[in-house]
Amino acid sequence: GTVGKDGYRHYMEKELHEHPVVIGQTLQRIIDPVTRQIVLPEMDFALSELPRAVITACGSAFYAGLIGRYWLEAEARLPVDIDVASELRYRNPPLTPLGMGLLISQSGETADTLAALRALRAEKQHIVSVLNVEASTMGRESDVVLGMVAGPEISVASTKAFTAQLSVLAVLTIAIAQARETISDERAQHLLASLLDLPSRAAEVFSRQEAIQAMAAVIAEARDVLYLGRGICFPVALEGALKLKEISYIHAEAYAAGEMKHGPISLIDRDVPIVVIAPSAILFDKTLSNIQEARARGGRIMAFTDAKGAERLRDIAEQIVILPDVDAFVAPILYTIPVQVLAYEVALRKGTDVDQPRNLAKSVTVE
Ligand code: G6P
Repeated sequence: GTVGKDGYRHYMEKELHEHPVVIGQTLQRIIDPVTRQIVLPEMDFALSELPRAVITACGSAFYAGLIGRYWLEAEARLPVDIDVASELRYRNPPLTPLGMGLLISQSGETADTLAALRALRAEKQHIVSVLNVEASTMGRESDVVLGMVAGPEISVASTKAFTAQLSVLAVLTIAIAQARETISDERAQHLLASLLDLPSRAAEVFSRQEAIQAMAAVIAEARDVLYLGRGICFPVALEGALKLKEISYIHAEAYAAGEMKHGPISLIDRDVPIVVIAPSAILFDKTLSNIQEARARGGRIMAFTDAKGAERLRDIAEQIVILPDVDAFVAPILYTIPVQVLAYEVALRKGTDVDQPRNLAKSVTVE
């Protein structure tokens, strides 16, 4: 049937508000509510025996994959290679047989991701796909489909599918870590509890609307915007910059904060706002010193952080959005939401066609 906007101005706004529910539904499907055990679909290989993983996707799904890499390496100690599908499909990388080829796609139809899937199969990888549309070409060609429960996503720019992808990847990481015995039962239970708590924390983001709008008012006047993050928050910065470009047509670039001094620092002046993704639990002091370098050059700092981080950013940041305090493991999921909302609020001010940005397609089924 047709999907309505339910009183929201755009599908994107509606879909942003669906984040909490979608995260909850996606987790419910793979975590038993009573036993809190992970229940993944049947696989004809053992997670404990995977030698490594290669992750591939396009667009926002690729950034979800980057976050997945940080999780799989840190928690499951699994070696991970990752590349955008349009590169991977032609790179012909030497792969260890019987590794995991991990595809991420909302639609299950993106041409480059599908071609990469076939290339990975030819290299004898077990094909595991994280999909929203399970009845899709990628769904049919995968050994294992891990479904997100995001519902139809109409807005061309992906929003709720991204946090759904991350929810699946987080649980998959814990399952692989358990199989490889790289995680204690206590830590696994703690991470699962943090995930299950996320829908409530995600809902709180919408009470920060005013602070996000104040930030949007600054960004909407800019021609270029720099997004910074470190570690697992670097891909959140990439997603923020992509979303801003896609729907507001403002040029944005994301950098790993520690790499700023090797280039983009030369761009910084009053006219280039700097959006930082800085939860206090993730390399905060390192990020802080990068922000101070930017501030010293006249940069206007727009920070996403928590109460503890806000204390230390008070005199440095011009705008601060204070988010709920969450475990570092789930922070990239939570922080993505206000960063996407920021792009939406900027696009509203610019008056662009938010749901149908020029030159973009929801599903790119040609190369
Ligand atoms: C298009 C969309 C993006 C999306 C990408 C990958 O570029 O505009 O929002 O992230 O395709 O799509 P997929 O369906 O494979 O996730």
